[in-house]
Amino acid sequence: MSSNYERLIPARIAFNERGIPVSPLYGDAYHPGWGAREQALKVFLHGNGLPQRWRGRRVFTVCETGFGLGNNFLALWQAWRDDAQRPQRLHVVSFEAHPLERRDLRRLLASSDASMAALAQQLIQAWPPLLPGLHRLEFEGGRVTLTLAFGAAGRLSKQLDAQVDAYFLDGFAPRVNPEMWTPSLFGQLVRMANRDATAATWCCAGAMRRALQDAGFLVSKRPGHGGKREMTVAVLRPGLGRAAAARPAGASVLVVGGGLAGAGAAQALSLRGHEVTVVDPVFEQGLGASHRGHIAAALSPVISSDDDIRARLSRAGVARALHRWQGLPEAGRPWRCGTLEVARGAEALSRRKALDALGFPAEWVRWLDASEVRERTGLCIAAGGLWFADGQRAQPQALLESLLSLPGISCRTGSVARLAGGDGGVWRALDAAGRELARAEHVVLANAHGAAPLLNAVARAPRLPKLAGLYRMAGEVGYFQGGEGRHARAVLAGDGYWLPPVEGICVAGSTYDMDADRSEVSPAGREAVARKASALLGLRPDELGDRPHALAGWAGWRAAVADRLPVIGPLDGVPGLWLACAYGSRGLSWSALAGDIIAARINGEPVPLERELLRKIAPR
Ligand SMILES: Cc1cc2nc3c(=O)[nH]c(=O)nc-3n(C[C@H](O)[C@H](O)[C@H](O)COP(=O)(O)OP(=O)(O)OC[C@H]3O[C@@H](n4cnc5c(N)ncnc54)[C@H](O)[C@@H]3O)c2cc1C
Ligand SMILES: C[S@@+](CC[C@H](N)C(=O)[O-])C[C@H]1O[C@@H](n2cnc3c(N)ncnc32)[C@H](O)[C@@H]1O
Repeated sequence: MSSNYERLIPARIAFNERGIPVSPLYGDAYHPGWGAREQALKVFLHGNGLPQRWRGRRVFTVCETGFGLGNNFLALWQAWRDDAQRPQRLHVVSFEAHPLERRDLRRLLASSDASMAALAQQLIQAWPPLLPGLHRLEFEGGRVTLTLAFGAAGRLSKQLDAQVDAYFLDGFAPRVNPEMWTPSLFGQLVRMANRDATAATWCCAGAMRRALQDAGFLVSKRPGHGGKREMTVAVLRPGLGRAAAARPAGASVLVVGGGLAGAGAAQALSLRGHEVTVVDPVFEQGLGASHRGHIAAALSPVISSDDDIRARLSRAGVARALHRWQGLPEAGRPWRCGTLEVARGAEALSRRKALDALGFPAEWVRWLDASEVRERTGLCIAAGGLWFADGQRAQPQALLESLLSLPGISCRTGSVARLAGGDGGVWRALDAAGRELARAEHVVLANAHGAAPLLNAVARAPRLPKLAGLYRMAGEVGYFQGGEGRHARAVLAGDGYWLPPVEGICVAGSTYDMDADRSEVSPAGREAVARKASALLGLRPDELGDRPHALAGWAGWRAAVADRLPVIGPLDGVPGLWLACAYGSRGLSWSALAGDIIAARINGEPVPLERELLRKIAPR
């Protein structure tokens, strides 16, 4: 287990003699007896000059150090709703080392103020599984976001990429919980602070005030509430903090490439009001043409015993895909059918050990024995495995068509040969004949293997070793009739995969050919996928059923770099140029996540992925 991994321990709630929720672990109350909402308004909102301070701002970001029952968040959200002069977007980031189970949150918020009951319901509905790391929730059509950082604030604050205007300091009292009031944590808060950022807390311990002062805040006292003599307010010392970027809404964006990478970026950007143009030569054959004939593909999280980078990224990616794509029209919406990662013999033992060590919630991943496998998947495969409830079967062509038809996205047929400009704030995309295909303030290179040569032609672009090693790999999937006892109700994964049928046809995947100069469906490839799928199902290859029609499968390319992680992020030193490529064999996992990372960074929102992971996937 890596030293970084910290198992999440959910909150246990008790009640004190006044019926106020308390934490037996810390021996302190979640809020004072005189009212959670009252404290939220008087201490945290008014202490930070809200709602007045957000007026005239397009985006305003609040960071809270202990999410607890969410009372402060709900009061803040309600205040935003009630204010005619509210900012267009309110972002809230909140740390929580011991999140509540959803049922406890429901129980505790049941007595919410009538005005907040509807908001509480939405929060409960959106409450994520208790997995370590960041979880992005969205309300009000994305105009209010909540980024929950599940884990210790001291550690996770270093992982947050955000630009914060106001802090709610609400850990348990320093006497019982010193970790929430350390100079190191306050240092991270200053790192994220915008110019003139403020902070407020009911706490008035001298050591806490000194630490806040030393970190870079000017600290003062205010009369307290509910019988407390004093509370603390603070404002960032002049000269510190970033200028809150006066970003104009809806900068234009050109996306080069209309595959899964381009479509994911286009969706995330269009949702934030950008004018998006996607350019790809395949559009001549339709919006989903880069996956024409690809009947179905799998979207599944993975785990590793040390919760490694790939596992954390895949968790974030699958969660983003679920969030972004479950609202699409039915034709394009992936089916959340669940994934069984089949494990036999020694592999089963080691997977179960990993599961025990990680302590992830069973609603997200759990072990199924052979009889439960039959119930879940409809197949009798004489094996157990890991069950991921969020596993999905997508139909890539239909998904692309749905995404690329969203309002705000226009698609143009063309092949970008060169990018010009950029220095004056506008990029121009030119074809091989020098004709202008599109112009925009930002460009996202989402053209897989083609990203490296295009980048090489940009005068100011640095030469990136990671990208210099971008390579492509051919591969194919095979189609089978399946038949009685072969039609799965869930994705089966292992060395290869077997998918629930689409109109009676089952997809088996897949092959990897590093040396190919063509990518095509072949008898040898079909044999290889049949071998993999039959091993998963515990059958002979000839038992998978016939080839259903003339189309025996689908073949394509995967672009990848040496570490097999995607390459996502801005290009250092070239403002307005972004990369979203090298998706390897997991394009569905990276598509929505990359879109939200890029769109969040363009818009100065909290980024929904840890900085450590952002660094791993950064163009270098
Ligand atoms: C056989 C096989 C099975 C797979 N199964 C799965 C699966 O089950 N689950 C999963 O998640 N992933 C799967 N993948 C991987 C997945 O298909 C890729 O990760 C994904 O397609 C990558 O998307 P992309 O948009 O980066 O690249 P592409 O799909 O290659 O799209 C890039 C686009 O850019 C365009 N382009 C290139 N150059 C230019 C230019 N100069 N100007 C304009 N446009 C340009 C191209 O025309 C293309 O449409 C599979 C891959 C293969 C080969
Ligand atoms: C006073 S309660 C917060 C109440 C909350 N703001 C609300 O509106 O309901 C303090 C919270 O901090 C959390 N906490 C304690 N130590 C922490 C740490 N080191 N990192 C993150 N959260 C922590 C506790 O689990 C608890 O939920």
